[in-house]
Amino acid sequence: MSLGIDLGTSELKAVLLDECGTVLAHAGARLNVSRPQAGWSEQDPESWWQACLSALQQLRQSQPQAYARVCCIGLSGQMHGAVLLDRADRVLRPAILWDDSRAIEQAQWLQQRHPEFSAVTGSLPMAGLTAPKLLWLRQYEPQVFSEISCILSPKDYLRLRLSGERISDVSDAAGTLWLDVEKRDWFEPMVQACGLQLKQLPRLVEGSEVSAGLCAAAAGQIGLREQLPVAGGGGDNPVSAVGIGAIAAGHGFITLGTSAAIVAITGHAAGNPASAVHSFCHALPQRWYTMGAMLAGASCLRWATGLLGQPNEQALLQLVQAGLPQTQPVAAGVPLFLPYLAGERTPHNDPLLRGGFMNLGYDSSPVMLGYAVLEGVGFGLLDALHAVQSAGAAVGACALVGGGARSNYWAQLLSNILDREIHTLAGSELSACIGAAKLGFLAYGQGADLLAGGMPVKERFLPVAAQQSMLQERYQKFRGLLAAAQALHD
Ligand code: XUL
Repeated sequence: MSLGIDLGTSELKAVLLDECGTVLAHAGARLNVSRPQAGWSEQDPESWWQACLSALQQLRQSQPQAYARVCCIGLSGQMHGAVLLDRADRVLRPAILWDDSRAIEQAQWLQQRHPEFSAVTGSLPMAGLTAPKLLWLRQYEPQVFSEISCILSPKDYLRLRLSGERISDVSDAAGTLWLDVEKRDWFEPMVQACGLQLKQLPRLVEGSEVSAGLCAAAAGQIGLREQLPVAGGGGDNPVSAVGIGAIAAGHGFITLGTSAAIVAITGHAAGNPASAVHSFCHALPQRWYTMGAMLAGASCLRWATGLLGQPNEQALLQLVQAGLPQTQPVAAGVPLFLPYLAGERTPHNDPLLRGGFMNLGYDSSPVMLGYAVLEGVGFGLLDALHAVQSAGAAVGACALVGGGARSNYWAQLLSNILDREIHTLAGSELSACIGAAKLGFLAYGQGADLLAGGMPVKERFLPVAAQQSMLQERYQKFRGLLAAAQALHD
C-alpha cells in the first residue's frame, strides 16, 4: 500500500493506493488562505501539518487494515510557495503562496538585471514564483530575511515534519526559479542574485527516489513505522501528470481548477521562456514538461456564478447549455470575456492585467455571460497552447482534469476552440494524490507497470467543424481586446 498526499491550496488530500493502482480510501481536510493585503496570499505551514494529520487520521479510521500495510509515502503540492525556516527549523513567517503578486517589481528587476538567466531557469521571472518573493523579503522584511536558514516549497515542509530533513525534488525546485532545469541542479548565479547562498536551499532528489525515512516522532503521530521511505514527490502539475499516465514526450493534458494550465511532456528542456511558458522538470527522471499557465481557470466560472446570482456552477452551466446549445453557432452579439481576474502568466506575464466583459447590450443575459466566461477561459487556453507550441512541444489529444472536467459542455467547447480531441478520465479528481502514491511505489522499488497504466477514459470530445469559423472569428476579436485591457493599468 502506498500513501499519496497532495497539499493543495484549498484542501489537503490523501489516498491509500494498492499495488494494482486501486484507490482503497481517500480523505481531505480544508485549508484557508489569508489575504492580509490586496494581491497577497499566505498560509500558515502549521495548518498544512494539522490538515495532513487530520486526513491521515481519517484514512486510518476508515481503512485500518490497509493503512497498517502502508510501505511508502509520496508527496505532491502547490508550487512556487516560500516557506522560511530559521536554524532550528522554526517557521519565520506565514508562507507566501503561488498566487501572491506582491513581488511584481522584484520580478521585473530580475528580468532587467539578468535576462540571460531565463534560458537556464526555464521561465521568465514572475511575481508568483519563489525567487522574486525572497527579493521582496530582503527589501521589506530585512529582519526575517537575515534569519533565513532554509527555504522550502510547501510540500517539502510536510516532508520536514515527516522526516526531520530539508529536502526538495527537482520538479518542485524548478518552480523556484533557482534551478538549472536542464542539469536538474541548483543554479548558483540566480541564487546569489537574490542575495542567498546555496546552503540555504534544500538537498535535491528526483521525484521517484527515496528522499528520507519517517522520523520517530512523526511515525508515532501518524501510526506508521519508523524509517518508512518517503519519495521525492513533486509539484502538483507534474505529479498529476504521473497520476493520469502523462509520462512520455508527446503526452498532454489540461488542468482546469482554480488556475488552469496546458501541459506537454517533453524529452528535453524545451525552453522559450520569452513566450512566458514554463519549461520545468517532470517528476520522473530525464523528462521535462512545457506548460502554459493561466492564473484564473474554473475560478472564473465560480466568480460568474456568484455575480449572476446562481446557486452553484452546475446551475449556471445548465442555463448556458439550455440557452446556447452546441448544435448552433453562437450569435455575433454574445459578449466576449477576458479571463484575467487575477492577472495572467502565459502568455502575457502581467499580474496587474484584469479581465472584463465586452460587447454588452440590454439583451445580454446570464446565459450569454455564462457562455462568454467558458469561452474566454478556452481562448486563454488557446493562447497558452500557442505559447507551448512556440517552445517546440508537440501537443496532440489532451486529457482534461480538475473541477472544470465535470462539465461535458465545457469539454466540448474546449475541443472546438483548441481544435483537438479532449477526453475526460475516470478518477482524475485525485490525480495528484494518485501520482504521489505512484512515486512512493517507485521509490520503494515497485510500481513500474502502474506508471504506464493511466486512467480509463470517461468520455471523448472531438472538434465540431461547423463551430470552427465562428469560434476563430470570436478568438480574433478576443485577441483584439487585449491592448485595451493592458492600457487600463499602464
Ligand atoms: C503551477 C501553479 C499552480 C500551483 C497551485 O505553476 O502555479 O498549479 O502549483 O496549484
